[in-house]
Amino acid sequence: MGTWGDYYHAIAATMALYQESNRQLVSMSELRPGMSVVDLACGSGLTTLAALAAVPEGLRIYLVDHDPSMLETARRLVGDRVVAIHQADAADAADLIGEQVDRVLCNMSLWQFANPEAVLRRWRGAIKPAGRLCFNLSGTYFNTGEAIVSPQWALLRALHQQGRQVRPVQDLERLPNRRSIEGTLSACGFKPFVHEVQPIQSAKPEAGPGGELHSLIELTPPLGGDSFHGAVQESLTALAGVTDQVSVARVAWRVAHFMAQPAVNPTEVLLARLGGKMPQ
Ligand SMILES: C[S@@+](CC[C@H](N)C(=O)[O-])C[C@H]1O[C@@H](n2cnc3c(N)ncnc32)[C@H](O)[C@@H]1O
Repeated sequence: MGTWGDYYHAIAATMALYQESNRQLVSMSELRPGMSVVDLACGSGLTTLAALAAVPEGLRIYLVDHDPSMLETARRLVGDRVVAIHQADAADAADLIGEQVDRVLCNMSLWQFANPEAVLRRWRGAIKPAGRLCFNLSGTYFNTGEAIVSPQWALLRALHQQGRQVRPVQDLERLPNRRSIEGTLSACGFKPFVHEVQPIQSAKPEAGPGGELHSLIELTPPLGGDSFHGAVQESLTALAGVTDQVSVARVAWRVAHFMAQPAVNPTEVLLARLGGKMPQ
């Protein structure tokens, strides 16, 4: 295996889940030339690649991730087309950009942050009053209202029911839903204004090579092993054993997208026009 960033990119770039969610996030964010854009938790740069496909010239893009290996891959893929690359925690990076930005895009990452609320609060002051925070959550970590929210959730639940050592699966009622996310956004100083659930189809059978679930296991194996490779093998073997039980082929993937603007008062609008930063 090469670097982690290259390994991640080789798999994620082939996945409908990452490609389609990035395309939709970029489309909803309505990017235009001249805008400043943060790709928050950029990974290997897939969101930036989608943004550059939509607006090839004139974006001022900042990359942020805490993983140096991801950033090394992103630098190779898009480094010559971005303003700056910051290796930093998602919350701390809000102080590093040095300007209020038009857009913060965060694809398939928010649930990975140890304290998502802290990240939202810190970025609130780094976004222009008319700017937008655009992010999404995979169905595995969001209650879309379906009985089975994603093939990954179904797999984790089946393994858990078998007594296997996987991280506990949240009951549907305990997963965040539209109301709770919008409440969190409001509590963190944002005005939520768009919510959309995007269904995504796996192009190949879920449990086989190239299937979404198979690929996700290659990136984040749910079972442990004596090495990362061992954990992937162990998890793929377990997947083969529960494919029928979780009916993975019949469950659609869903990604819940949200857009929000800073909820600003007139003083903050004035401050922003005068070039001042909003208080955190
Ligand atoms: C599932 S990947 C998504 C990457 C990218 N957004 C994409 O669409 O391909 C999650 C990314 O979040 C990054 N990440 C997780 N926690 C982070 C944190 N606290 N601060 C900065 N980056 C973080 C990881 O390093 C990883 O690159």
